[in-house]
Amino acid sequence: MKEIESNKHAWGQISEDHYHSFKKHFLDGTHEFNKYIKAELGDLRGKSVIHLQCNTGADTVLLAKMCANAVGVDLVPDNIMYAKKLAEDLQIGNVEFIESDIMDFMEKHSEKYDAVFVSEGAIGWLPDLPRWGKTIRHLLKNDGFFYIFDSHPIVMMFDENKLKNAITEIKYPYFGKEPDESDSIGGYASETKYGVKAYFWQHKISDIINALSNAGLHIEFLNEFIENFYDPGGAKYLGDGLYNYDFNDGKFPMSFSVKATVK
Ligand SMILES: C[S@@+](CC[C@H](N)C(=O)[O-])C[C@H]1O[C@@H](n2cnc3c(N)ncnc32)[C@H](O)[C@@H]1O
Repeated sequence: MKEIESNKHAWGQISEDHYHSFKKHFLDGTHEFNKYIKAELGDLRGKSVIHLQCNTGADTVLLAKMCANAVGVDLVPDNIMYAKKLAEDLQIGNVEFIESDIMDFMEKHSEKYDAVFVSEGAIGWLPDLPRWGKTIRHLLKNDGFFYIFDSHPIVMMFDENKLKNAITEIKYPYFGKEPDESDSIGGYASETKYGVKAYFWQHKISDIINALSNAGLHIEFLNEFIENFYDPGGAKYLGDGLYNYDFNDGKFPMSFSVKATVK
């Protein structure tokens, strides 16, 4: 698919910067899960965990420290190369990384896991959530569980350049079907790089829940949070891996989490 090939190239432009940025955060002891993930994920001791869209492996390394063995999967060859390097640098042995498009991973990978994990900034890069849901079910053991923490579709509707001025103007329709095409990538753990084509899909809360439910998962909880896990521009860092705008005193959610088990 042309959009996925284009995203692969775009994300590859910031792999090296991400590796250096996340490694620095590990070395200065500041790379941690945010407070909601810490509270909700649960005990992973003794479990096998697969992390979808793992980027350069920083969150996979956090998982590996909590579980028996962790696997990270990402589309971009350089992300996988740097993820392996990060794990080696940090002397984390119980982790491996696989290069794959999540959209065709199901056909290529038959191993089953106790948990499937998806972190911050992931699902908007995927065009087909029903297929994503089936992939998660395919990867889970019958007593396994799924957990995601990601951006809330409501904040993803707003014009990111206006939010910093307390203006909530809808730029990306909630019911939009076509992906947004951007000429830049990164900015949260790298410089923003221009001259790419990056495609991002707006998924509704119902798309997410129905993708999981229709694939045979039972929703244990769906939680919505005011704070976000990154600064889209002009938000204040609150600590615990979370950001908010002064004016957002409960007006709209910026992140959500879901935990689901096999039905
Ligand atoms: C924002 S990052 C993931 C979040 C990660 N927690 C982080 O902070 O960097 C999004 C990741 O999705 C990956 N990605 C995008 N489309 C993908 C696809 N179709 N299959 C697998 N990975 C994909 C990108 O390469 C990128 O590493």
